[in-house]
Amino acid sequence: MAQISLPNNSIYKKGNYYKIDNPKRLKKINVYRWNPENNKNPKIDTFEIDLDNCGQMVLDALILIKDDIDSSLTFRRSCREGVCGSCAMNIDGRNTLACQKNINEIKKDINIFPLTHLPVIKDLVVDLSHAFNQLKFIEPWLQNNFGKISDQEQNQSLKDRSKIDGLWECILCFCCTTSCVSYWWNGDKYLGPAALLQASRWVNDSRDQEKKKRLKYIEKNSNIHNCHSIMNCASSCPKGLNPGKAIAKLKKQIVTNL
Ligand code: SF4
Ligand code: F3S
Ligand code: FES
Repeated sequence: MAQISLPNNSIYKKGNYYKIDNPKRLKKINVYRWNPENNKNPKIDTFEIDLDNCGQMVLDALILIKDDIDSSLTFRRSCREGVCGSCAMNIDGRNTLACQKNINEIKKDINIFPLTHLPVIKDLVVDLSHAFNQLKFIEPWLQNNFGKISDQEQNQSLKDRSKIDGLWECILCFCCTTSCVSYWWNGDKYLGPAALLQASRWVNDSRDQEKKKRLKYIEKNSNIHNCHSIMNCASSCPKGLNPGKAIAKLKKQIVTNL
C-alpha cells in the first residue's frame, strides 16, 4: 500500500481497504458487505484497526469501525453481554456472538460473515423471520390452567426445576440452527435445533400441562427425523448448550409418552 502522510488516527481508503493511519498494534478485519440498494455483488472490505484503541471483543472492533471508519457498516447488537442474541454472526468460520468472541483468540486476520445460510438483509444483518415463525409453532410459553386466571404462584421443586437446566438458558441467537447442515437443506419443513430445544424446554417443565399435546405436535409437524446427530449445533452454541441432546431426548419422549 502506498505510504501517505496523514495525521494520527485519520482514515486511508483504497478500493475496499480502509485503515487507521499509524496503528501500533495492527489487526486486519475482513467483513462481508452487501447493500441491496446499490445493485452490486457482495464484496469483502478489509479494515485495519489499532488494538490499543479497541475493546477486547469482536463486537468492540465492529463498533470502532462503524464509529471511526465506515458508518455504513450494518450489524445488529444490543446488550453486549451475551444475553440478547442479536450480535450472532459467523466469525473465524464459526457461528457465534460477536460480543462474546475475544479478538485475542483469533491469531490471524479476523473474517466476519453473516450467519450461514440465511437471506442477507444488509452486510451482517440476516432475515430471521422464518426461524422466528418456526419458533411460534412450538408455542413457547407456559400452558397451565387454561381459561382460568390464577393469582397463585406456580411452584416447582428444586428437582423439577433442574430438569430444564441446559434448556432455559437459550437466548435464541440461532447460531445452532444456522450451523445445522440438515437445516440448510430442509429448513422449509424441519424446525431446527433452536426451536426444538425450546420445545424441549416446555415439554420438560413440570408446571406445563400440555406435554402430550406438545409431543404430538412435534411428532407430526417438526420433521424431527431430519436431525441426524450432526452436532454442529452443540459446537456452535455460545451458551454451551446441546440442542442435539435435547432433540434426542424429545425423540425418546415421543416414543415413550405417546
Ligand atoms: Fe443460540 Fe444455543 Fe439457543 Fe441455539 S441453543 S439458539 S445456539 S443459545
Ligand atoms: Fe443438526 Fe444438531 Fe441434529 S447440527 S442434525 S440439529 S444434532
Ligand atoms: Fe447481545 Fe451480543 S449484543 S448477545
